[in-house]
Amino acid sequence: MKLVPVRKVRGEISVPTDKSITHRALIFAALAEGESTLYNLLRCLDTERTKDVLEKLGTKFEGDWTKMKVTPGVFRTPTEPLFCGNSGTTTRLMAGVIASHEIFAVLYGDDSLSRRPMARVMEPLGMMGAKFLARENNFLPMAIQGGRLKGIEYESKVASAQVKSAVIIAGLRAEGKTTVEEPVKSRDHTERMLKKLGASIQEEGNRVTVWPSSIKGFTMEIPGDVSSASFFVALGVIHPNARIVVRGVGLNETRIGFLKTLKLMGANVEWRVENEDVEPIGTIVAESSPNLRGIEVPVEMIPSMIDEVPLLALVGVFAEGETVVKGAEELRKKESDRIRVVVENFRRLGVTIEEFPDGFRVVGRQRIRGGVVDPEGDHRMAMMFSLAGLLSEEGVEVKDHECVSVSFPEFYGILEKVIA
Ligand code: S3P
Repeated sequence: MKLVPVRKVRGEISVPTDKSITHRALIFAALAEGESTLYNLLRCLDTERTKDVLEKLGTKFEGDWTKMKVTPGVFRTPTEPLFCGNSGTTTRLMAGVIASHEIFAVLYGDDSLSRRPMARVMEPLGMMGAKFLARENNFLPMAIQGGRLKGIEYESKVASAQVKSAVIIAGLRAEGKTTVEEPVKSRDHTERMLKKLGASIQEEGNRVTVWPSSIKGFTMEIPGDVSSASFFVALGVIHPNARIVVRGVGLNETRIGFLKTLKLMGANVEWRVENEDVEPIGTIVAESSPNLRGIEVPVEMIPSMIDEVPLLALVGVFAEGETVVKGAEELRKKESDRIRVVVENFRRLGVTIEEFPDGFRVVGRQRIRGGVVDPEGDHRMAMMFSLAGLLSEEGVEVKDHECVSVSFPEFYGILEKVIA
């Protein structure tokens, strides 16, 4: 698909609901005692994988993604390996579910997921008593023999909500208490939901402790995904004739590092929380920002914008001065090596950008000439380089743009409505 320069960006939009929260809502409903009703779940390839995996383990789902009734079953050993597609969240959170039940299951995924590290969940869940076998380098496929686990105290080397959540989920059924600590606090949707559902869980800075708990069936409405909103916010602040309003979007503090960083860069972006139940929900307004300036991004903010960090390269191209990202080595372990894919593709478009092992540096006030990019099947790379096309001189052809369906199937439909 070729994206060409646009004159104007205007619109009031709502974005599809949150991917992280949808995965968790499906999983906690499957673990609950009694039925749950979930409203406005995100339907995308990743969340479909979580639903399918849970179905194969005995959970029943009725209705569609706007109103889904979930009836938990008794977790059982599936007769076939479980396909997790492109979804790291499905794999790692379900590893915690399987490890804490007396069942055996094999998880596998697509080429990208089969290159992503699984030792990060095998280690803590193994310490708790689950047994794992995996391919060389602890890559998928991964076989898990779950069982009766014991609580542990675990210090994670990475700030990862997937690792933290896998351990917390396993801790719900382990003997004694389970504590997980991370270097910087990652997104806390798991903790918020479990608290709301009545589990015994306590947070203290970057440490979370959970005690064996059962959760009751529940009703939940999912907020808009701030990571999906961020693409439109980036376009809004960069484009010289733009105003974008995003309504009904989740504004959890552990997810809005990108908005805060844009503010530090001098962007015209505002957000306000309008109501708060399990998650704060509100509105973001982003407008053309002629005074964007490059910054050295504070390292401790990286986990709260881990999926948005590549967008800082795009914003940096249009800012005054240098934008430097460091301490973001985790980006190399996402759906693609996002540091390499960002750098290689920007260079193809005529942008000067320097690669670091853990980030990049981009000098501002450059032009994006245009050309052909290869997002390497990574949904977030395809969406970002599509925006680059709208902001370019000659247009950008994005190969295999359909991969946006991994998280945001409606991306191009919404984009079309806001550009002229
Ligand atoms: C997610 C956590 C993040 C994020 C991913 C979704 C989650 O991964 O990149 O898109 O739902 O827990 P890590 O926790 O591994 O950083």
